[in-house]
Amino acid sequence: RKKAPNAEDIRARKGGEPLVSLTAYTTPMARLMDAHCDFVLVGDSVGMVLHGLTSTLGVTMEMMILHGQAVARGLEKAMMVIDMPFASYEEGPAQAFRNAARLMAETGAGAVKLEGGVEMAETIRFLVRRGIPVMAHIGLTPQSINTLGGYKVQGRDDQAEAVLADARAVAEAGAFSVVLEKVPQGLADRITAEIPIPTIGIGASAGCDGQILVVDDMLGFFTAFKPKFVKRYAELGPLAEAAIAEYAAEVRARTFPAAEHVFADQAPAKGSRK
Ligand code: KIV
Ligand code: NA
Repeated sequence: RKKAPNAEDIRARKGGEPLVSLTAYTTPMARLMDAHCDFVLVGDSVGMVLHGLTSTLGVTMEMMILHGQAVARGLEKAMMVIDMPFASYEEGPAQAFRNAARLMAETGAGAVKLEGGVEMAETIRFLVRRGIPVMAHIGLTPQSINTLGGYKVQGRDDQAEAVLADARAVAEAGAFSVVLEKVPQGLADRITAEIPIPTIGIGASAGCDGQILVVDDMLGFFTAFKPKFVKRYAELGPLAEAAIAEYAAEVRARTFPAAEHVFADQAPAKGSRK
């Protein structure tokens, strides 16, 4: 059994075999992906995917810690990275360190991820110099939805230089990798070629050093909306609903439970499992 990679192992994968990652929020889902992913992200997307929030802004430290602990129980081979939730790091480096240290100590995560480029470089440098590996996240940063004005592509036309500057700033500050979300393909390839740390694409380019998707999106469990960059590898939502509908019909028809699901009044003979 290979042991889980750490942040420096991930950094060393720059330019090599693509890094594979997904989000996870629960133990059973973490177990399913453990052998297939290099790292698993406990994303703050948990707020929208599992808690019914309309954005990630309402996600709390407590939610991240509970889901992080659950995911950790399901992982042996993959590294765990955990998102810093909105308002847990933006005030400054000291606040960021306090909350990042708590997330790592209470969940066992090997790194934190936070959103922001040039404006977060000082905070990233502060954390990394004090022992906290940081994965950056630039391009579309959902915690800034209210100032971005929508979930649109980031870095087209004359916006490209700003996203490139963000990529350079987080790499220079010591981030061990960076998520590029909803960045146009050519720009994602240019960033990947220019910076010395792995780029992890989501709605970016197959040329990135790795890819990530929200697991409930790619399995077809989360169907409230489907961004263009999501590929549905399965349609488990409709499959689950069909199973629930069948159960409901059988209960109403008294065909469930059947003989094999109920217990006899007489104790079974020794050696029998009934
Ligand atoms: O929270 C999340 O799921 C993420 C990934 C989409 C990168 O940040
Ligand atoms: Na996130």
